Amino acid sequence: MLYRPLGRTGLQVSEIGLGCASWWGKAAFDERQAHRLVHAALERGVTFFDTGASYSGGEAEPRLGRALKGRDLDRVVVATKAGTRHDGRRVVRDMAPAAVAASLERSLKTLGLERLGLLQLHGPSVAELNDEMLGLLESFKRRGLVRAVGVNSFDPAVIEAVAALPAIDVVMVDYNVLRPERAPVIAEAARQGKGVLAGMALAMGHTGGQVLKLRAVRDVWYALRALKNHRADVVRGARFGFLHRLPDMTGAQAALAYVLADPNVSCAVFGATRMAHLVENLEASGKRLDETVMAAIRQAQA
Ligand SMILES: NC(=O)c1ccc[n+]([C@@H]2O[C@H](COP(=O)([O-])OP(=O)(O)OC[C@H]3O[C@@H](n4cnc5c(N)ncnc54)[C@H](OP(=O)(O)O)[C@@H]3O)[C@@H](O)[C@H]2O)c1
Repeated sequence: MLYRPLGRTGLQVSEIGLGCASWWGKAAFDERQAHRLVHAALERGVTFFDTGASYSGGEAEPRLGRALKGRDLDRVVVATKAGTRHDGRRVVRDMAPAAVAASLERSLKTLGLERLGLLQLHGPSVAELNDEMLGLLESFKRRGLVRAVGVNSFDPAVIEAVAALPAIDVVMVDYNVLRPERAPVIAEAARQGKGVLAGMALAMGHTGGQVLKLRAVRDVWYALRALKNHRADVVRGARFGFLHRLPDMTGAQAALAYVLADPNVSCAVFGATRMAHLVENLEASGKRLDETVMAAIRQAQA
């Protein structure tokens, strides 16, 4: 596993991180299997784990806390999010500073940590990134509750605003073969010293129709999510079927290699519930796409 600096935070992270969200965090997915994936990731050198207070019906974060219990976390950066929570029925958004502070307190407890590696606001608006909020985030660092603070957003206007805010250390954006348009704003964020996390680096399996291959209940869940929320990406993703027929790497490895070819990216984050997928994805570290493949990607993107 290769490592990269997380912007100017002084932290180093594995260039591939594990997202602890979606089906991985759900009660319907066996707890022992979920733990095994985290432990296998640790053994293979993963030092970045991403979750959120509202992920998987609120179950992902406590599950990650249980999985990490008793492990050596010296070099590990655990990242979670505030500003959204799950009320048992749906995701509730609350970006009030008091709610963010309460969320951090709960997250530290559920994760079993005294200090969090990274706390990110989960989808704030530009207006919500006001002096009160930025002061609060800085106070978390001063009090030793978090090592770094960030913003997770898929809104280019928010990412652009964040790039110019000295109080924010990290941005997490949706960056993958289907989102080359994020490259300039990522470059600007990196130029301003931000660590850049590529969430959904696999394009949620939308390339080559992978997400529509149904083998188990979880696949049906991912396919329905794709068709409900990301239909346009599934259609666009069909143009990238060639990534799944490369001689020297799998489609998922190619998707990760594409994201990691951008030197402005600190870490590419994926989710998985199958061990074979996890192992395959982590083996993408250090793999390079040759110029012919990069040209074919650019053509499919155009
Ligand atoms: N989804 C969002 O809206 C969102 C928002 C903000 C941040 N993020 C961050 O991004 C992370 C990843 O998001 P995600 O879990 O929703 O989606 P994802 O990583 O884009 O996709 C997960 C899907 O990809 C499949 N997969 C993984 N490795 C594969 C491989 N080698 N070959 C074929 N299929 C493979 C998984 O299958 P198996 O389960 O069968 O392994 C699962 O169906 C999250 O954990 C979170 O930290 C996501």
